[in-house]
Amino acid sequence: MSTRTTPAHAADSAQLDLTRRPRRLRRTAAVRSLVRETRLSADMFLYPLFVTTGSGTRREVPSMPGVYQLSVDEAVKEAAAAKADGVPGVLLFGLPDAKDEAGSGAYDPDGPVHSATRALKREHPDILVVTDVCLCEYTSHGHCGVIVEGEVANDPTVELLVRTALSHAAAGADIVAPSDMMDGRVGRIRQALDQAGFSQVAIMSYAAKYCSAFYGPFREAAGSAPAFGDRRSHQMDPANVEEAMREVALDLDEGADIVLVKPALPYLDVIARVKTEFGVPTAAYHVSGEYAMLKAAARNGWIDEQRAVLETLTAIRRAGADIIITYYAREAARLLQRR
Ligand code: PBG
Repeated sequence: MSTRTTPAHAADSAQLDLTRRPRRLRRTAAVRSLVRETRLSADMFLYPLFVTTGSGTRREVPSMPGVYQLSVDEAVKEAAAAKADGVPGVLLFGLPDAKDEAGSGAYDPDGPVHSATRALKREHPDILVVTDVCLCEYTSHGHCGVIVEGEVANDPTVELLVRTALSHAAAGADIVAPSDMMDGRVGRIRQALDQAGFSQVAIMSYAAKYCSAFYGPFREAAGSAPAFGDRRSHQMDPANVEEAMREVALDLDEGADIVLVKPALPYLDVIARVKTEFGVPTAAYHVSGEYAMLKAAARNGWIDEQRAVLETLTAIRRAGADIIITYYAREAARLLQRR
């Protein structure tokens, strides 16, 4: 004669005879954390910085709230602050005072990227310095190379990219990152670096860089929108993934140490295939437009920015990226500390 009453919830479990209950592993924060498959940490972030001339300059980019054009002294402070937040390195883009047809500011040893690299290596030798190797921020027409008969000419451009990469290595860059998508540039850069005694300088190649609408805010930040035409003759068609595999294979063959997919969130399938098919260090660039979308929605109160940022970066990591380049690097690093 039992007086025990049956708890109300027992009725449900009595109805379903389940042996598999996936929800067991989602009940508490502790168990969720125990079985979490993807972990995000600040040491996989690289933080892009836009470096300009002068001193004491911090000019916010209108379409990228929280991102600034920085003079060398300010860039050094920002990189050090990022390092203190746990972000190991920066990716430097240069904003020269003057531009010309041959983009000669790209390989001017006194350019903003070169000066910032030297200053960083002098003041904070432990901060990883990665430099963008491209001509678009330096050409008067905003194209990624020299123009011959109305087209971006591949081979003459490669020679200027080699000069640029060598000048960055001479300034002390740890890694050079060609983002131009010219054919054969990785091999020529590797050869030139080795011949000049920079065999320790690594190459992170933008192997699968798509011709994307999501670079818009960057072009405002870097003043690098093409004056005519577009970048379809060298950047990839967003519809293609087999071609990305061929691009990655070529760059690895030519000596790339790290391959990069760009943009990130719309190309998670590409990141996943690169990582599974090649098994090499793979970077993903969470680009300016991806940043701007999150910022804009958050500013309107339409999404929870902190959750959306961590979810986005976790998805990029889950797809297979080992390195994430993001304007959110500092903010995300601080969020991860609090978690
Ligand atoms: C070219 C370069 C671009 C970006 C990085 N390197 C612009 C372009 O291809 O037009 C875009 C990065 C971003 O949108 O955040 N030097």
